[in-house]
Amino acid sequence: MIKTIEELPLKDKRVFMRLDFNVPLKEEDGKVVVADDTRIREALPTIRYAMEKGAKLILASHLGRPEGRDPKLSLEPVANHLSTLLGVDVLLTDDCVGDGIEMIVKHLKSTQIILLENLRFHKEEEANDPAFARELASLAEVFVTDAFGTAHRKHASTYGVPSLMPMRGCGFLIQKELKFLGQLLDSPKHPYVAILGGSKVADKIKTIENLYLQVDTVLIGGLMGNTFRVAQGGYTLPPTSKKPKPEEIEHAKALILKASKHEVTLILPTDDVEGFDIGPKTIETFTREVRAAHTVFWNGPVGMFEKKPYRGTVAVAHAMAEVNGLKIIGGGDTVSAVNLAGVADKMDHISTGGGAALEFLEGRGLPGIEILESGKTRQSADLKIAEEA
Ligand code: 3PG
Repeated sequence: MIKTIEELPLKDKRVFMRLDFNVPLKEEDGKVVVADDTRIREALPTIRYAMEKGAKLILASHLGRPEGRDPKLSLEPVANHLSTLLGVDVLLTDDCVGDGIEMIVKHLKSTQIILLENLRFHKEEEANDPAFARELASLAEVFVTDAFGTAHRKHASTYGVPSLMPMRGCGFLIQKELKFLGQLLDSPKHPYVAILGGSKVADKIKTIENLYLQVDTVLIGGLMGNTFRVAQGGYTLPPTSKKPKPEEIEHAKALILKASKHEVTLILPTDDVEGFDIGPKTIETFTREVRAAHTVFWNGPVGMFEKKPYRGTVAVAHAMAEVNGLKIIGGGDTVSAVNLAGVADKMDHISTGGGAALEFLEGRGLPGIEILESGKTRQSADLKIAEEA
């Protein structure tokens, strides 16, 4: 059983809280600021709850994919933004491990909050290095994760640290993600339509194969749609369009075959706008299919949506908003698309995890969540075993 934050002792306890503050940044008036704070806002209920219960909060996250210390990927803009949202000071430490941090943590008072600097400034984080995990774990008595977006990574802060801390559990965001995404795996209402777009087929093969076990119809757009059309044959890519790699075409061919084996209706675009978007006939087909569904899962724009002439993605977003049933957006660029279309509030759930949501739908467990199971407690000396298990 996985404990929730409500079942953990928090009062006067040092709580290591792993969050996914990997958010886009932008420059405004010569200052770097948070460009989209969805992931930060989604973590607020868990942070606030821990504050109300009198925890001494040590927040931790990665940002981007730095190679060593990179000031451009400091969590400073996140600390400032979080402080404004919470209305309390959030102290950003200059590193995430070391003597200085131990001192700060030792003197931390109840309801105070610190944010550790970008965990990925240490290569040991992604390597799930046992010594690094031990150092992080030694900072606190209780481990809470609400980093759903990073739960598919087996890193020190998502896996090594909780494996060392028997008092561990998840926050409200992870509970919400599992509740909604879980409904897609657990007897979804039919017709169930999945819309898949974006670029790489390779990243989505396993998810598509697992979706075939549940869905009635799959609509494929975006660059992936072009790849599938080439794989199907009889389609010549416009000269402006990016050419798919031969292995991508092979993946698409296999997925076309598998769809018919599973009696899934696979609908590919029949027309396009310069290869950058689905055309008017396809918009009509896609939106009709979506409107008739009782469950819709969408990951990946069906075309370029940031530019005016390309209206496919926004049209699909509006159709989805009209669905009488469960509507789930699977993170990433699709979130920006539904925001642009002004229909975000019409969705039942917008996942904060792109890759994590897709891996969840592959049907295999996410390491950052599985490690929370109570049977997985390990002593520090056994960390290597936990790693290999
Ligand atoms: C994400 O944005 O998908 C997560 O924060 C994980 O980031 P990563 O792909 O760099 O591990």
